[in-house]
Amino acid sequence: MKIISVVGARPNFMKVAPIHKAFKKYENEITHLICHTGQHYDEKMSKVFFEDLELPQPDFYLGVGSGSHAEQTANVMVEFEKILIEEKPDMVLVVGDVNSTIACSLTAKKLHIKVVHVEAGLRSFDMEMPEEVNRILTDRISDYLFVTEKSGLENLKKEGVSDEKIFFVGNVMIDSLIHYLPKSEVSNIHNEFGVEKGSYVLITLHRPSNVDTKESLEKLVRFLNALSNERKVVFPIHPRTKNNLNKFELLERLSSDIILTDPIGYIDFQALTQNAELIVTDSGGIQEETTYLGVQCITLRTSTERPSTVDVGTNQLIGVDLTKAEIACLDVLNGNKKKGSIPELWDGKAAERIVDILSHV
Ligand code: UD1
Repeated sequence: MKIISVVGARPNFMKVAPIHKAFKKYENEITHLICHTGQHYDEKMSKVFFEDLELPQPDFYLGVGSGSHAEQTANVMVEFEKILIEEKPDMVLVVGDVNSTIACSLTAKKLHIKVVHVEAGLRSFDMEMPEEVNRILTDRISDYLFVTEKSGLENLKKEGVSDEKIFFVGNVMIDSLIHYLPKSEVSNIHNEFGVEKGSYVLITLHRPSNVDTKESLEKLVRFLNALSNERKVVFPIHPRTKNNLNKFELLERLSSDIILTDPIGYIDFQALTQNAELIVTDSGGIQEETTYLGVQCITLRTSTERPSTVDVGTNQLIGVDLTKAEIACLDVLNGNKKKGSIPELWDGKAAERIVDILSHV
């Protein structure tokens, strides 16, 4: 059997890494190849993750780069189709919800190749989010749907997906987190930034709804400056956010007390996450990582496709009103911490379960 797994953007790498490792157990029966679409291409958004996560060089690199949604999705499809025609895999495995996910699953499905979706069933119910469109469409055409949390099972059932296609296996992103904890525990990143473990706020923001307009960015700058009066603030800036801060001439309005950095590699970022007093984010994956680690997380979004991080974990979904967000942050920093526990099957073995199932179909 031949399976091609797809990676495209930063949050894909830590999901495919444990799957690739798990396929080693079956290397005599299954050829596992990796295709990188090139949706993310900067060294700090891509290469560093291959190194940190011990991923081999991808077998195929499509080099599509940035563009509008249509351009990016279409370019991936055109290039991926050539690979599929040449390689004739039995299955294509996609993860998450980025443009590369829908582009590659759609291409495979039209060539009658089985589609495997890892992290299926998550729903924010906000169709303005490109990721929600990607998730729904990918699930609709997938043949094997691997689910990370209970809400995913319910969503897929409500949408009429038949039971035999759905497998509740846990969370491959947490597999990577657990696997690399010993390495992140000895990271030197706190010394490099001059921050003390347990007493800084970590920020990650990149959603178009938070960072694409001047108005929302101006509010963000005020919010971050206010936070920096309370604690050291570490802010690794996503290229989308940096480009927009520059475009609206707002980068220089950020307080000089804020530690601004380029995007950070996987191991160092986990070290920062693990030891943060609080994380403020609009990322999907970070809501899950903080839940696993029991770290306080405030999410600047109106919806989450990962409700277990709120119901079971330490995540608080605050919305995009930054006055409310500031109050919520101060509350946490004053010691009012949300207690949480770890969702079912987030135990570091999700990839093994997936690969065992795929090897028996
Ligand atoms: C994409 C995903 C989003 C995910 C995020 C993680 C989609 C629709 N969105 O958003 O779900 O949470 O990745 O980071 O797939 N850029 C660079 N260098 C890079 C990559 C991007 O400079 O290596 C810049 C470009 O200006 C580009 C912009 O960032 O136009 C946005 O990149 P894009 O891949 O379109 O979307 P993200 O915002 O990264």
